[in-house]
Amino acid sequence: MKPKRREPIAALILLAFTSIAPVSLCCQDLLCYVDFIDTLTCEYRKDKDLNSSVSHALSANWTFEEWNDTCLLDECEKNHYICTIDMEDFTVDGMCTVTIITKINGRYHSKQICQPFNIGNKFKPVPPFNLTVSLSENYNISWKTLYDNHDTRGGELAYELSYKKDGESWLNQKTIQVLEDEKNVVLLRSSFQAGEQYVARIRTQPKIYLSDIYQGHWSEWSTSITWTTPANDRTVKAQIGMISGMVAILAFLGILMTCFRYSPPIWKKVWVLVPDPEPFFKPLYKGHQGDFKVTHNL
Ligand SMILES: *[C@@H]1O[C@H](CO)[C@@H](O)[C@H](O)[C@H]1NC(C)=O
Ligand SMILES: *[C@@H]1O[C@H](CO)[C@@H](O)[C@H](O)[C@H]1NC(C)=O
Ligand SMILES: *[C@@H]1O[C@H](CO)[C@@H](O)[C@H](O)[C@H]1NC(C)=O
Ligand SMILES: *[C@@H]1O[C@H](CO)[C@@H](O)[C@H](O)[C@H]1NC(C)=O
Ligand SMILES: *[C@@H]1O[C@H](CO)[C@@H](O)[C@H](O)[C@H]1NC(C)=O
Repeated sequence: MKPKRREPIAALILLAFTSIAPVSLCCQDLLCYVDFIDTLTCEYRKDKDLNSSVSHALSANWTFEEWNDTCLLDECEKNHYICTIDMEDFTVDGMCTVTIITKINGRYHSKQICQPFNIGNKFKPVPPFNLTVSLSENYNISWKTLYDNHDTRGGELAYELSYKKDGESWLNQKTIQVLEDEKNVVLLRSSFQAGEQYVARIRTQPKIYLSDIYQGHWSEWSTSITWTTPANDRTVKAQIGMISGMVAILAFLGILMTCFRYSPPIWKKVWVLVPDPEPFFKPLYKGHQGDFKVTHNL
């Protein structure tokens, strides 16, 4: 269904209707937000668990210009209700009215019509995705959002990037605010310690200076990304030293083998003494997944 021209009279009727509707206290327990893509999410925490014969059904009426539509909310998980409606063309002044129907033993008992809300005031974006970290001179961290090519919401978001060492608590996170709707941020190489594993994540909300239009919410955090910073020069040198040492030992063993190829009894004795190279390789394998080449290039 596509929006049509608005008739002022329809707005007046709606206004009159909503102003006389009983706005129940019940609705204080209702928290709804829209993602401006296709989902209305409501949390409704009325203590219905106290009496298992009481249940609720939620529906939402949408009015946008002259167009209107209704959707029923499904309880997707406990106290969380969602309905799906295409919001691609919705402007921030679209209105939504949630109706809560209370049933007892499955039978209609009462109905509360909650205060209509301006959907721009309830914008909670879908989290960014495809968070990527690439290293050239510095670290370039980039991401995508569902709003990138969005006609109306494109360019209206701000971001918060957070990162920490893997294994530490998020309480120790460092955060970077991205106030413009840019999909990447460059962090100095020196912001990170060498040879460590880091985790980053990102979330988004409407830009702060658009707070007249949106009383937005932070999105949930994106899926996090983990990466390992390259070892610093000293570590690399130490590794080169170790590898040279190993090459020397192998060469020495080669000479021994050649020397004793024709005298099996002595060779047998030497064989017992051959040092096991495994402890030598293990730290390298553990630290760098055996990827010596990459470590050297960096
Ligand atoms: C639940 O509510 C119904 C209707 O108000 C009432 O008849 C019933 O006694 C209540 N049950 C409990 C356990 O409170
Ligand atoms: C919602 O829409 C339905 C169908 O159009 C209508 O019957 C109902 O009265 C509306 N409720 C509100 C609160 O606008
Ligand atoms: C909703 O739209 C239908 C037709 O599109 C109209 O008959 C009805 O009055 C509208 N309801 C409201 C509340 O605007
Ligand atoms: C980007 O994210 C989407 C959805 O999470 C996923 O399907 C896709 O494979 C990702 N693309 C890349 C290049 O990571
Ligand atoms: C960072 O990555 C983004 C996306 O891949 C790219 O558009 C941008 O040019 C890169 N910036 C730098 C400084 O490398």
